[in-house]
Parts: sequence; C-alpha cells; structure tokens
Amino acid sequence: MKNRTIIIIVFGLVLFISGCNPSNESPKTLAVENASVGLNSEIEAKVDSLLSIMTIEEKIGQMNQYNGFWDLTGPKPAEGDEAKKYEHLSKGWVGSMLNVRGVKDVKAVQKIAVEESRLGIPLIIGFDVIHGYKTMSPIPLAESASWDLKAIEKSAAVAAQEASAAGINWTFAPMVDISRDARWGRVMEGAGEDPFLGSKIAIARVKGFQGDNLAKNNTIAACAKHFAGYGFSESGRDYNTVDVGSSTLNNIIFPPFRAATDAGVRTFMNSFNELNGIPATGNKFLQRDILKNDWKFSGFIVSDWGSMTEMINHGYAEDDKDAAKIAANAGSDMDMESYVYIEHLATLVKEGKVKEDIINDAAKRILRVKYELGLFDDPYKYCDEAREKEITGSKEIHEAALDMAKKSIVLLKNDNNLLPLKKEGVSIALIGGLASDKDSPLGSWRIGADDNSAVSVLEGMQQYKENSLLYTKGADVSIGKTSFVSETKINTTDKSGFEEAIQAAKNADIVVAVLGEVGFQSGEGRSRTALGLPGVQQELLEELYKVNNNIVLVLNNGRPLVLDWADKHIPAILEAWQLGSQSGNAIAQVLYGDYNPSAKLPMSFPRSVGQVPIYYNYKNTGRPKASDPGTVFWTHYSDEQNTPLYVFGHGLSYTTFEYKDLKIEGINTSSATPNIKVSVTLTNSGERQGKEVVQLYIRDHFASVTRPVKELKGFELVSLESKETKQVTFELDSETLGFFNNQNEWVVESGTFTVFVGGSSDTSTKADFEIK
Ligand code: BGC
Repeated sequence: MKNRTIIIIVFGLVLFISGCNPSNESPKTLAVENASVGLNSEIEAKVDSLLSIMTIEEKIGQMNQYNGFWDLTGPKPAEGDEAKKYEHLSKGWVGSMLNVRGVKDVKAVQKIAVEESRLGIPLIIGFDVIHGYKTMSPIPLAESASWDLKAIEKSAAVAAQEASAAGINWTFAPMVDISRDARWGRVMEGAGEDPFLGSKIAIARVKGFQGDNLAKNNTIAACAKHFAGYGFSESGRDYNTVDVGSSTLNNIIFPPFRAATDAGVRTFMNSFNELNGIPATGNKFLQRDILKNDWKFSGFIVSDWGSMTEMINHGYAEDDKDAAKIAANAGSDMDMESYVYIEHLATLVKEGKVKEDIINDAAKRILRVKYELGLFDDPYKYCDEAREKEITGSKEIHEAALDMAKKSIVLLKNDNNLLPLKKEGVSIALIGGLASDKDSPLGSWRIGADDNSAVSVLEGMQQYKENSLLYTKGADVSIGKTSFVSETKINTTDKSGFEEAIQAAKNADIVVAVLGEVGFQSGEGRSRTALGLPGVQQELLEELYKVNNNIVLVLNNGRPLVLDWADKHIPAILEAWQLGSQSGNAIAQVLYGDYNPSAKLPMSFPRSVGQVPIYYNYKNTGRPKASDPGTVFWTHYSDEQNTPLYVFGHGLSYTTFEYKDLKIEGINTSSATPNIKVSVTLTNSGERQGKEVVQLYIRDHFASVTRPVKELKGFELVSLESKETKQVTFELDSETLGFFNNQNEWVVESGTFTVFVGGSSDTSTKADFEIK
C-alpha cells in the first residue's frame, strides 16, 4: 500500500449524505448570516432600510417574476391574466420581468413599477442573452472550441453591450452544465465535457457580462445555470432524471458553478431535473448548504421556467402551495412562471410554514443585486433610445461576432492539404441546403435576432470572385418553417435535388458540401437518439463522393455528430457549428486560408451513439485491456472501438507544430505544498503563422478514490510565426493536483503522477513525477 499522505484543504463542503435528505423545514442557519463576504456596506445599509419599510406582500413581490405580456404600448388590459399582472406591477408585487425587450417596452413596464407602486422599486429585466442579443455570436459550445478566454470574455461583453442598450440588465447565462452526452440538445449552450475548461470559460463569461462594475450601463448581471446536474440527464433526454454520486458531483459538475461564484456571478438559476431523488428547485442541499452557506454566494437564485410547480409532476410536492413552501425553504429566491410565490407565500408565512426570515433573506438578495446594478439611482439607465439605435447591430458588434466565429472553427481533417482552397482558377460546386441557409447559423437561442439575418456560406464564398462557384442545394435538411417551440420536421424523402447536385459535383474541381443540423435541431427540448447527418444528407454525401472525391465537408451543427463514414472517405472536414450572424464570412475566410484555424474540440465526437456518454477523462476500470489477445473479458464493445472518432482537444491548423524537451522541475515535491513546473518547447514547423492550444493533462496513478486516466489541468493559446519556437511553462499546485475524496475533502495525495503535454488529449508527450 502506498503511504497515503493526505493534505486536506478545507473547501467546507458539508457531508453529501446530508444533502441526500434535505429537510423541508427552515434551515438552522440562514444563508443571510453567511452572505456578508465582500459586500458593499453602503448598499447593505440601503437594502436594510428599504426592507424595514416593506410589507410582507411587497417582499414576496420581489420574489415574483412575470413573463412579458400584452402590447405594452397599448391600452391598459381590462381583464384576465394580463390585467392581474398589470395590477401586481402597480402594487409593487413583481420583482422582475423576463422577455420584455427593447427600450420602449422596458420603459413601459419599468414606469408602472417605479411610478405607480407604493415604494417605486425598479424591476430587474431578464432575458436569455445566451450568445448575443440581436447580433448573434457563435453558440457557446462553438465559442468554447476557441479555448480563447479573452475572446470569449469579449464576446460576452459585446453581447452585454447590445442587450443593455435594449433595456436588458440581466442575462440567464452562462449555462455552465458539464455534459458528456451529445444526445442532449443543450450541449450547444455549454462549454462541453471538461470541468477545468468549463470553469475557465464560466469565469470568462461572467466577467464579460458583468464587467468590472455592474453599475455601468453597458454591463448586465450574469446567471450561472442550471444548478445542478442538468447535463447528466439520463440517456441524454432533456429534463430526465439525474442520479450521480458525490465524486462526480464534486469533481465534475460543481467546479464551473463554484468558479462562477468565486468570479462574482450575481445570480444562479436552479434546474428542472431532480438530483438523487430531490428536484433541484426544492433541493436545500444544493441551494442553501452548498451554494449559499459553503460557497458564500450573496446573489439570488431564480427558479427555472415553471420548475416550482413541476415538483408536483416529479412527485415531490403535493400541490402548488406545497411547491411554494418547499422551494422557498430550500432556497429558491425568485419564482419564474410558476406563480406559486405570489399566490401562496403570504399564507405560508402566516401559517408558520415558511419563516419570515426566509422571505427577508430572499428579498434582500434580490434588492442587493438591483442596487448593484444602479437601478435605484436611475431605473431608466438602460433605456436610452439613442444609445439603442447607435449600438444595436453596429459595425463593431458584427466585427466582434466575425472574429469570434473564425476562432471557433475546428479543422477536423485535412488530407493532402486540400484546404485552404486556392483563390483563383478553381471550379467549386457548393452543395447543401445549409449552404444558403441564413437562419440556422443563428442557433436556437436567438429570440432577439431577425429571422434569416445571418451571412450564409454561399454569400461568404461569393466574396471570393476569382473562382467559379456553382451553388445547388441537393437537399433540404428540414421541411417547412422551423421554430423555437415546435418539433423540427426532417426531410427524409425528398431527393429531387440530388441529380442536379451530382452533375455539379461531377463538373467541379472541388465540392464544398455544407451539411449538418438546422438551427432548431439542437437546444432545449431537442434530444436525439441518432447523431448522424439528419435526413437524406448522408446519402447525398455518398452520392457526391461517387463522382468527385475532392470534397470539403463543412459541418453546421449544435452538438458532436457521428461522422464515421465521412472520416473514412472525405479528405477535409471543417466543424463550423452554428456560428451566428457572421457565419458565412467566417467559414469562407477559413476555407480560403485568410484565417488559419486553431480551435480544438471541447467535446469528444463518438464513432457510434452506442458509445455515449463518451469523454476523455474516463476511469481505467479493472480490465482496461485483454489479458490475452482475442479474449473477451475486458472492458470493450464487440462491434466498435472504445475510443472516440475525434478526441477532446483535437483540432488541426494549416501549419504544423512540434513539441520537444518536456521538462519537469520539482519532481519530488511534497504533498503539503506541491509545486511543479512543467515546460515544453513548441515550434511552428510549418510554412505559415498559426496558433496552437497547448494542453496539459495529468494522471494520478493511484489514489484513495480512483482518478481519471487523464485530466486537463492547464492550457495556453500560443501564436507562432513559421519556424518560430517558444517555451511554454505551466505550474501545478495543490489546486490542480488535488481532488474531492468521498468524504468531500479536498486532498492532494502522494504517489506517482504522469504529466502529458500536447495539442490534444491523446498526446503521447509525457513524463512522470512523484509527490512525497
Ligand atoms: C430554460 C432556461 C431559460 C428559461 C427562460 C427555460 O426553459 O431552461 O435556461 O433561461 O427558460 O427563458
């Protein structure tokens, strides 16, 4: 047995076991007592004094959020739900509205809250600014592929700028759910499968949205969501059950949420799913014990849409009133679209089932964020029509979207340097319904964008005029108009355009086939069991290949796809996701080599759906290899390899990079204060400038809890001219070398570690070190 020297670094996690049995009773220690870290005393005094003059109904009103309603600029509604919402607004019984956007409409609702209610408390205006407001940047999964934290931060800042100019001051982003399951449609909205990369990206996005001063009129409050475990829904089916152990929860699911908290995120959203038998919305362990008490989160938690009443369907709450009681006691501060707080909380307080302290704490958290946003100084600070006009869709915002889009494109394959394309004298057949699609690149979270407003690949390629370009659709991916709310109908039969496409391919030097998913095929409520090219597209690709092998496959999709046939046959494959408003320009610039791709996959691409969930940081198992070749008793499939088709961290460039001289300093470091320096020499060995994401992984070979075969613990984006060399250095310390054991303690254990450095997770450049 190795000597397990365990250094415990207190992260203060309560025993997970207690979280499995959260009580509905009010917690012994209210988070309000702990939330005093780093708060502004002036704001706290103002919140307290306001709170002291509020009625219980007004405090509960702050916990109530309504969705946008009626034609705000029209007459006051006379009856029905809309009239009730109006009445509540004017009574000060609404704390927030979502999906009200545009200066005119925001001003109209704000005016009712501020000018008609007794205390004139301003509303906080929420919206899903997931990857842009009106000008769309790439979907978050695509942006994550850039591994470029500065660019990601800037993209969020630009989105905040455009959204804030339209009256919005709170975004329901970033989604920081780790997921290993490409069947889950919402992987498009996250940062992929890895907690280390996911944490860095969470921080970048929070900083981008919130800036260094929330009170500025171009920054907005961010929201880490969905707390917690949503990305682990069973079988990748949205909203499905989640059952994970403490090791996965602490080491994989929590880290990006913790990182967002430490970065000062002002709000959290809970989640639709149950976690180990307790719906996240009614989960005291998650919301009070972990987030508010242990992590000292001082902002507020909003429920997900209707997730309070959904606890009835889960079989956890008896009725609406019970749902309100459970959610409030568990720490949900604001009710999005369940209407149960406004209906029942006051009675529950009277009956002693929800303590008034809980209401005070929730209202205080919400008011605190409103003060921080500067809404009490000027409720209309985000409502400047001239600014809205100047900023919305501005040249600078489009330039930023284009820059981010180029940085997000992953070159998966490029046999014989088929790419980049020559700029003249080449005849190109551009094929695929998605090639002329101006809507799909906008993705599925694009409520503020105009339909069909993206630059298509066709339009992007038309900028390069010295080649002959013939466009023919071949086939549509979907039938009819697609929408955010309804099921997308896929074209599985119409091949009437095949013949024309085959002729075009036959006569061309090169075929550029743009295939994949339409915009509304990934996102919320869009789980899939088949991950190949939808509809007749695979057949189209195979037909094209019969007449011309020089095919560049450009993929537009919101999740990893199964591309086994394409990988075997197609020489060049470009993963271009859904890249937003500037999609076509970005793709054309990469195809023609005006931009050298450097992105790397943030999620593994499976060979077959049967491998899912598939991820690079898996465990070794007791039978990682066959003891004798040909025998079956080892962890494997009879009909498929274990490895993914494209590994996490994979991505090529138009130049090449060489790694040499991996050196480790501090080989016999102590577990008490581990301090390892890892350096490697990186050379751009190709003929043109390029960027490489240098990745560092570790393996802790033997531990008190089994560790993954590899874990990302560092990365750096390095830009090098042709033949230029640079030494890249990483430091490993107790934060990167430790893990949460099953007693929820952060430990660094002695023993042998291997460090791997390279351009993807399957790098073989490695060396060992010991921790004593
Ligand atoms: C989603 C959230 C989103 C909310 C408000 C829900 O359906 O799960 O992520 O922020 O709607 O639009």
